[in-house]
Order: sequence, then C-alpha cells, then structure tokens
Amino acid sequence: MEAINHQSGAAPVLQQHEFVWIRDFLYKRAGIVLNDNKQAMVVGRLEKRLRHHGLTSYTEYFRLFGRPGFENETTMAIDLLTTNETYFFREPKHFEYLTQHILPNHSPGKTFRVWSAASSSGEEAYTLAMLLADHSRLGAWEIVGTDISNRILEKARRGLYPTNGSEKIPPALLKKYCLKGTGEFEGYFLIDPALRKHVKFMYANLIGNLPSMEMFDVIFLRNVMIYFDMETKQRLLERITKYLLPGGYFYVSHSESLNGMKTDLQIVTPSIYRKPATA
Ligand SMILES: C[S@@+](CC[C@H](N)C(=O)[O-])C[C@H]1O[C@@H](n2cnc3c(N)ncnc32)[C@H](O)[C@@H]1O
Repeated sequence: MEAINHQSGAAPVLQQHEFVWIRDFLYKRAGIVLNDNKQAMVVGRLEKRLRHHGLTSYTEYFRLFGRPGFENETTMAIDLLTTNETYFFREPKHFEYLTQHILPNHSPGKTFRVWSAASSSGEEAYTLAMLLADHSRLGAWEIVGTDISNRILEKARRGLYPTNGSEKIPPALLKKYCLKGTGEFEGYFLIDPALRKHVKFMYANLIGNLPSMEMFDVIFLRNVMIYFDMETKQRLLERITKYLLPGGYFYVSHSESLNGMKTDLQIVTPSIYRKPATA
C-alpha cells in the first residue's frame, strides 16, 4: 500500500520497510529494541514531525536525518521515541535500603556521590536528593542525572512538576524541600533551589562514550535495560560499573535483574548489587 499524502487529508501510513528502517536506526543509535508491535507507537510519536515539515511519507522524513540544516531532527526523533515514564519515590524499598543500610555506613569525610543513569525528567534524582539532604550525618553529597533525551533533561533541570506528581513524596519531605507554585505556577511545585544545586543533569548515551565523571558510591540504572537486548546490557554493565567505587551499590528496577550476565557484582537484596570492596 502506498502512503497517502496530506492533500487527501489522511495521515501518512508507516510502511513496513520504513518501520524496519527506524527500528534499526533506533537500535544503532540508542540500543533500544522496538518490537514488531510498535508501529502504532512510532506513528503516534513521529507523525507530528512529518506535519511540522509538511512531509507526506516517513521515507521523506527519515531522509532529513543528518541533512545539513536538519542536524537536530535526529536527536528530536530519538527523543520522541524514548519512553520517559518515571515518578517520585518509585519502588520505595530501594530508598529504604539506601537510608537504612548505605547512608549510615558512609564516612562523612568523603563526598557521597550518586548517579541516576537514565534519569528521565529528574524525579529519581530529586527523590535521592531529598533523602540525602535529610540524612543529618552524611556530610557533602552530590547527584548526577544523565539521559539521552535533551528535551527531558531540560525538564529535569527546571525541577518544576505538576502537583499531582507529589503524591508519593512523604509530607515532611514535601514541606521541607519543595515550594508550592503560585500565580502562573499554580498547580505546580518546584524543587527547592538549595536542593537543586546538589544535582547536575547532563546528556549521556548509555551505549555511546560515557562522559568523564568521578567515581560513584551508588549507581541507579532503573527501568532502562528493559529496552535493551542481552548483548547491549552486558556491554553497558561492564562499562557503567567502572564508575562504581569498590564497595559501591548498583540498583536496577525490581522488574530487571542481572541474571545470566557476567559480572563481579554481588546481590545484596533483590535488584540491589554491590561491587566487592577489594575490586
Ligand atoms: C522509563 S525511563 C526510567 C527513568 C527512571 N530511571 C525510573 O526508573 O523511573 C527510561 C529513560 O531511559 C532513557 N534512555 C533510553 N535509552 C537510553 C540510552 N541509550 N542512553 C541514555 N538514556 C536512555 C530514556 O530517555 C528515558 O528517559
């Protein structure tokens, strides 16, 4: 079937060979595996870009990638094809383990550093920030959030969220570390700038060259490996754990695991691993 053009009023159709092209492209650029049932998702997310450029087929749209004058289009397409679902205090048991077993054992003389890899819009990083700020004996601390989506990183840096996103934040922490929006920000809350200054967000593609960073006490890599195949996961695990200090902790989500992967990390409780102290 040929793509129907805009003049006829119908939306362009994503042909099978076009789906295969974007699927391979996304895998090569971001490591993300799109299953065959994701055609509707691709259309839902990219259709507006075709409209924006007045194009009538996906082939024409994909030809823009890398063309002079359209350098940002590739980044934008990858941005749109990523899934950014996240929320504050997601998987609360992870944070309980942090406050009960990790923070009390950290020596206050050293800056405590956490990496929220694939941070999305920042809720995970700011959840950590509230807990670290609230731990009276911690001393200096900092958090780095990274993601492949520049659009979502902008949102993270702003730290402004709709009020209904605050439901899972314990009331005492909400009161202490978040500011209620008023006037044009009615219906929103802002992460307190005093907290935000401990949190830095930057671009990093987990399958590309990782940025130069200091080592971390804890790395969160949650709800992103689900989009990768085994080979990509294995390569990522080897590269990312180089940033983990000996004795440091590595978190994945409860729906992920390192089963079947080669690693010297040791499981301490489901979905939380530790690098041997002597590594
Ligand atoms: C579902 S969110 C997870 C957010 C958060 N970690 C959590 O668990 O709530 C997945 C994030 O992974 C990011 N992502 C996908 N592929 C990536 C890659 N190759 N490099 C870096 N980030 C990537 C997406 O942009 C998205 O923001």
